[in-house]
Amino acid sequence: MNTAEAAPSPSLRLLAAAVDVYKKVFTNPALSSPNPVRRSGFDLDVTIESVRTEAQDVVSLTLVRPDGQPLPAWRPGSHVDVFLPSGKQRQYSLCGDPQDLSRYRIAARRLPGGGGGSLEVHALRPGAALRIRGPRNAFTFVDSAPRYLFVAAGIGITPILPMTHAAGARGRLVYLGRSRESMPFLGELPDGADIRPDDEYGPPDIPAILAEAPAGAAVYVCGPLPVLDAAQRCLFTLNPTGSLHTERFSAAPVADGREFDLTLAASGLHLRVDAAETTLDAIRRVRPDTAFSCRQGFCGTCKTKVVAGTVDHRDRSLPDTERADHMLVCVSRSAGGPLVLDL
Ligand code: FES
Repeated sequence: MNTAEAAPSPSLRLLAAAVDVYKKVFTNPALSSPNPVRRSGFDLDVTIESVRTEAQDVVSLTLVRPDGQPLPAWRPGSHVDVFLPSGKQRQYSLCGDPQDLSRYRIAARRLPGGGGGSLEVHALRPGAALRIRGPRNAFTFVDSAPRYLFVAAGIGITPILPMTHAAGARGRLVYLGRSRESMPFLGELPDGADIRPDDEYGPPDIPAILAEAPAGAAVYVCGPLPVLDAAQRCLFTLNPTGSLHTERFSAAPVADGREFDLTLAASGLHLRVDAAETTLDAIRRVRPDTAFSCRQGFCGTCKTKVVAGTVDHRDRSLPDTERADHMLVCVSRSAGGPLVLDL
């Protein structure tokens, strides 16, 4: 069931008294911190220097500091959180030159059916001010590998492009996409890049591509879920001494989920979280303004205080000291029984 329920289930009624006490105490701003709690401490104000069309439905933005000072150093694979004018927070890989700290470059593909973040990016114009957070690196480029195979699909080229330049002659790039018109940065690829648009080569054969990796190569893959899944299924059979590094741009499907009851204590709302949906998605049905960013359990944007219930923590970034009474709702869910959250 995917709707907010007017009447709580019997198990939730047992929590009502506790929730009432909770609401009196913890919704007092003097006694509680706002939710979700966001990591902070390295925010930067930047100005959009330029907006450029890089391919069909893809724009890049270059960002500079208003005072002309250098930006923080970053390594290939890093991303920044971008706070859009609407308040949405989205993550974009840095796809410029890590040696040039006078500017950052990010790129976004327009996704009309997405959450609206990409449409906002496409509406931005030079001179606009933005706040960014980072850079952070969740897709680490290990620069000591003897050989590399890079597989980028579509906008997945953004974290891969700086890696290919860092790897130099040790690396080989296979770049996939629907058509050349849809593939950004074709003019910036390293020499020898293997460009394979679907409309010329047909759908990609990921096992065949990975079979071309030299023994022991570091294989970096960034693209849509089917490409990542195929790589995870076959790489270690094909190349037992290789290493696989992947980055996805979307939430992973829920694995082994069980439905559970959820109460948003401060709002007085009761929901049922389906087995196949995330806690965050269930919350956003009734609280569409709920903040999120990575939807993969590493940025901390969706961290929420737990009032009652036992959490099945499915992230690896929440500190141990916070696991007793907080959860990352984009990935974590109930370990059994109802949950009550401070929302
Ligand atoms: S949205 Fe990033 S941890 Fe949940």
